[in-house]
Amino acid sequence: MSIGVQATHKNPELEREQQTGDPSAEGALRPLSLEEFVGQKSLRENLDIFVKAAKSRGDAMDHVLFFGPPGLGKTTLAQIVAKELGVGFRATSGPVIAKSGDLAAILTNLQANEVLFIDEIHRLNPAVEEILYPAMEDRKLDLIIGEGPAARSVQIDLAPFTLVGATTRSGLLSNPLRDRFGIPLRLEFYSAQELSSIVARIARLLDMPLEDNAALEIARRSRGTPRIAGRLTRRVRDFFHASGQSKADIKLVDNALGRLDVDASGLDRMDRKYMSCIIDNYGGGPVGVDTIAAVLSEGRDMIEDVIEPYLMQQGFVQRTPRGRMISLKGFEYLGIKAPKQGIEQMNLLDNSVNDSGDK
Ligand SMILES: Nc1ncnc2c1ncn2[C@@H]1O[C@H](COP(=O)(O)OP(=O)(O)O)[C@@H](O)[C@H]1O
Ligand SMILES: [Mg+2]
Repeated sequence: MSIGVQATHKNPELEREQQTGDPSAEGALRPLSLEEFVGQKSLRENLDIFVKAAKSRGDAMDHVLFFGPPGLGKTTLAQIVAKELGVGFRATSGPVIAKSGDLAAILTNLQANEVLFIDEIHRLNPAVEEILYPAMEDRKLDLIIGEGPAARSVQIDLAPFTLVGATTRSGLLSNPLRDRFGIPLRLEFYSAQELSSIVARIARLLDMPLEDNAALEIARRSRGTPRIAGRLTRRVRDFFHASGQSKADIKLVDNALGRLDVDASGLDRMDRKYMSCIIDNYGGGPVGVDTIAAVLSEGRDMIEDVIEPYLMQQGFVQRTPRGRMISLKGFEYLGIKAPKQGIEQMNLLDNSVNDSGDK
């Protein structure tokens, strides 16, 4: 079996991590059980029921799809599912499975009831995806052996297994693939309270005494995302070590985050660049996402997966049929007066009567 990393493989999340901080030490801090996993309450409760039911039946759990923005805990949950089920965990990712034979090899090597995790499952190549349909549905593998006139098709029975897929947006999956997941679960941004307990836990693991309001401050400025909370906490620790203080307090945190270019609401340099791009060049929008990507020299994926979900959740940006627009709230946030025309356009768009004057 050859599993080659394709040269074209680009992970927007990793790229951002490389631009803004280090990815080290993250894995070591992953929660290992559903109990330790903070937040996503209803998702967690449901998962707990499905896990227990599968365990009591002694059968493989139904296939699970986790979807949501990067850094919210998809990979972590996949590992936890295997652990809670008490079964083996095999991990791979969509872009690295180059040929259907690679996936066939992985599937035939699975032990009964094991979890196979496919990260970035929306990036599976279509020929590989075809192999997955009968495997997920009937635990069968349809293979063509040989070439030309000697080719024949064989069907292999697979051990029962649970496929856990992860993707940033479920809409990126093909319909037949999405339909084969019995348990689709969406991850939401975390509240400041939830992130605050994640921050406190990481600080404990890093041996950094951190005041409660300082933990909350890091949490508030983490874009609703545990990965960012973890990264900021590790950076705060660096500042803490340099400071010689006995406890990290809110002043130290504020100073550290300021230096890291994380503003009072937790928006970072890229978020602000994105919003100023729309305001400075397009009067606040509407403007198409491809245009924004070109102006910022970023991939469209990075913009749609990483930057926009949080800005939309905060109500700073709106997605309209004619492109992205900065909302009144977004203008207010940046302390810029909204152009009258832009807001009128937005009102018209809200009533969905305007389809002219595309930019
Ligand atoms: N609910 C949570 N509680 C504690 N830590 C979390 C939680 N969710 C995610 N993390 C941490 O955040 C980081 C990113 O999580 P990960 O599962 O890799 O996200 P995703 O796969 O969705 O991008 C990891 O270090 C993980 O330990
Ligand atoms: Mg992941």
